[in-house]
Amino acid sequence: MSTDPNGPSYGFDTLQIHAGARPDPATGARQVPIYQTTAYVFRDADHAAALFNLQEVGYIYSRLTNPTVAALQERIATLEGGIGGVCCASGHAAQLMALFPLMAPGKNIVASTRLYGGTVTQFTQTIKRFGWSATFVDFDDLDAIKAAIDDNTQAIFGEAIANPGGYIMDVRAVADIADDAGIPLIIDNTTATPYLCRPIEHGATLVVHSTTKYLTGNGTVTGGCVVDSGKFDWAASGKFPSLSEPEPAYHGLKFAETFGPMAFPFHGIAIGLRDLGMTMNPQAAHYTLMGIETLSLRMDRHVQNAEKIAKWLEDDPRVDYVTYAGLKSSKYFDRVAQVCPKGAGGLFTFAVKGGYEACIKLIDSLEIFSHVANLGDTRSLIIHPASTTHRQLQENQQRAAGAAPEIVRVSIGIEDADDLIADLDQALSKATA
Ligand SMILES: Cc1ncc(COP(=O)(O)O)c(C=O)c1O
Repeated sequence: MSTDPNGPSYGFDTLQIHAGARPDPATGARQVPIYQTTAYVFRDADHAAALFNLQEVGYIYSRLTNPTVAALQERIATLEGGIGGVCCASGHAAQLMALFPLMAPGKNIVASTRLYGGTVTQFTQTIKRFGWSATFVDFDDLDAIKAAIDDNTQAIFGEAIANPGGYIMDVRAVADIADDAGIPLIIDNTTATPYLCRPIEHGATLVVHSTTKYLTGNGTVTGGCVVDSGKFDWAASGKFPSLSEPEPAYHGLKFAETFGPMAFPFHGIAIGLRDLGMTMNPQAAHYTLMGIETLSLRMDRHVQNAEKIAKWLEDDPRVDYVTYAGLKSSKYFDRVAQVCPKGAGGLFTFAVKGGYEACIKLIDSLEIFSHVANLGDTRSLIIHPASTTHRQLQENQQRAAGAAPEIVRVSIGIEDADDLIADLDQALSKATA
């Protein structure tokens, strides 16, 4: 399939199957082969030198690039409307890969309080060891975001549909703030997927994914991806020297000057993957390529089921409240049409009357729902965030993140909605007896 920007433009359902995947040049294989190889034979010494100099694009060593992984990168970038992508070993790796070219000791990011708990921990604890820091702000308070930005702020980071609450971020409004400050907006689009939300169309610069979730879709492999919009001028302000100035880690190459709008993906591979080594393996890329082929079909069903189940839970006297943004009662309901018009996703929380103890009993009584630390599976999943994914956080941070001790998080699968409701019904009866 042509990827010529002036060629035909295809719909999402076509691209999720074809983007990045050409018949194998050696064998004609129609499905993308799993290139299970560590290294690639150079034609001759000049070819090797040209590849290492980035004068010619090709394959050197699978820590950097691999044809199966490259097909996935191109597919995700195409679905997001980006110019290029870099796949890596996990969603958390993708977050570091997104920040790495932008940051230096003493620099900070402004991040939403409503993030996956592991991301809050990565941003409060782990990045400190690199001399980076994060300031957390309620992203519904746009003035607070502006106030948190200082001369050392290098990026703004938020989730389009926040895990665990399913809250929707006003991506356009935050992108405008980032533009005024001359810094990139990074959106974690894991829970929305490009089928429900395309953050680049709302002004985001970079999109990160845990491909572990809906993109793969069936809980088989971990992976991540950073997609670049290609729209940010890295050289304009002098704030991003690793991209705009001679980069000592690549014998003085100026990535922005040499690669223009592709500077970020090239940097991600040539320096990020080369030196940090958080590489996706070709087997994982294969599973994720398979998963993405049915992304739109699955997401429609996740949304349809989530809407039905959230409504049922909201009307149930054993439930205190439900956070699903697709419910008319949600303060985020109006944003759904604007940010993710095909639906508010399959992830939300609900509070069980009886608090912490009732949550635990509910989880232990369910039969179809699996109690696991994952989301975005074909199967329905449930977890109690305060005692698991958000355990490292203080209670005030848990509440700010939408992970209060009295709630459970569900990732609604694509089973029969009526079976899921019956399962919740019997477990709620036991939990609140
Ligand atoms: C929204 C979100 N972002 C990032 C991650 C991290 O992804 P991974 O587990 O693939 O590192 C997760 C994991 O649950 C997540 O839910």
